[in-house]
Amino acid sequence: MSSDSNTQALQQLQSVQTELQNKLVGHEALIERLLIALLTGGHILIEGAPGLAKTRTINQFSQLIDAKFVRIQATPDLLPADLTGTDMYHQQSGEFRFIEGPLFNNIVLMDEINRAPPKVQSALLEAMGEKQISSSGTTRALDSPFLVAATQNPIEHEGTYPLPEAQLDRFMFFVNVEMPDATAELKILEQVLGERNSTANQAKQTAISNTSTIEQASKGVSAVHVSDAIKDYVVRLITATRGHGTAGQLAEHIAHPASPRGSIFLSIAAQAKAWLAGRDYITPDDIEQLAPDVLSGRIVLHYQARAEGITQRDVITQILDATPAL
Ligand SMILES: Nc1ncnc2c1ncn2[C@@H]1O[C@H](COP(=O)(O)OP(=O)(O)OP(=O)(O)O)[C@@H](O)[C@H]1O
Ligand SMILES: [Mg+2]
Repeated sequence: MSSDSNTQALQQLQSVQTELQNKLVGHEALIERLLIALLTGGHILIEGAPGLAKTRTINQFSQLIDAKFVRIQATPDLLPADLTGTDMYHQQSGEFRFIEGPLFNNIVLMDEINRAPPKVQSALLEAMGEKQISSSGTTRALDSPFLVAATQNPIEHEGTYPLPEAQLDRFMFFVNVEMPDATAELKILEQVLGERNSTANQAKQTAISNTSTIEQASKGVSAVHVSDAIKDYVVRLITATRGHGTAGQLAEHIAHPASPRGSIFLSIAAQAKAWLAGRDYITPDDIEQLAPDVLSGRIVLHYQARAEGITQRDVITQILDATPAL
């Protein structure tokens, strides 16, 4: 890619980021993770209570980049074909034709993924990994870029199907959306009241970028340099979850450590973070900031640690603290 088009793509996506940050109070991390995932073919699992603007964030993000967006509410009676699409009889031609399901979009918001039955979850996770759908012996490529953002409500577990660990590994990020504090709450309130009072529909965003720019930008992201020192840092973090190195003793809390997808996603995500910051190299700080959201969903703690109230995030943070960057 020429450096001109790289600069132009960067400027556009930085404006998308700023615009979203202005509209959404305290969602800087979520917004950055969404951009990174879109640039790298990754997917996001968002954990948060209802009403924290998850839908609004993803919807406005899609509008700003002119991406095809769909929201699916998971329910226990959902079928895989409700996502992938299905062959339908076409009267005039007397043949069966494939009608594309909602997965044929750029950005798919799957609300309350843990309410979907396991067969639907695995159809979705397969689409996430393969970026294609197989039905009646035909394989169809999904749109590009393709991003799945799935949400989980941390307080409701009744009648849900927890995602199997093996499938969790398919996500790049595990983002927690927290309740706002009083200052943020006031800002949100003022913003929503202001919008209601304005004639223009401010929830509707005019696109300032598009999906072909995203494709171009992805090439710039892959070209970001990953030094040997950074690779070494990443490997030391991941292998610490398996009990190796100076931070290895913290693995006593871990029943299942991170797989190589951990190192791959962490490095790729850091390339995108560096690119968005206008750099062509990764700093240890990029790795450190992204590691909790990339790694926390990838390890499983022993029952005992969980009983003591230790979280996956706690363990990752401790590993980061105990692992020198260089
Ligand atoms: N941090 C925030 N910044 C701006 N607006 C916010 C924020 N948090 C909540 N809101 C407002 O709260 C309302 C609810 O947002 P939204 O429907 O996107 O939430 P949600 O997380 O998708 O909820 P649910 O889980 O019920 O689907 C919106 O009107 C939104 O403007
Ligand atoms: Mg919602």
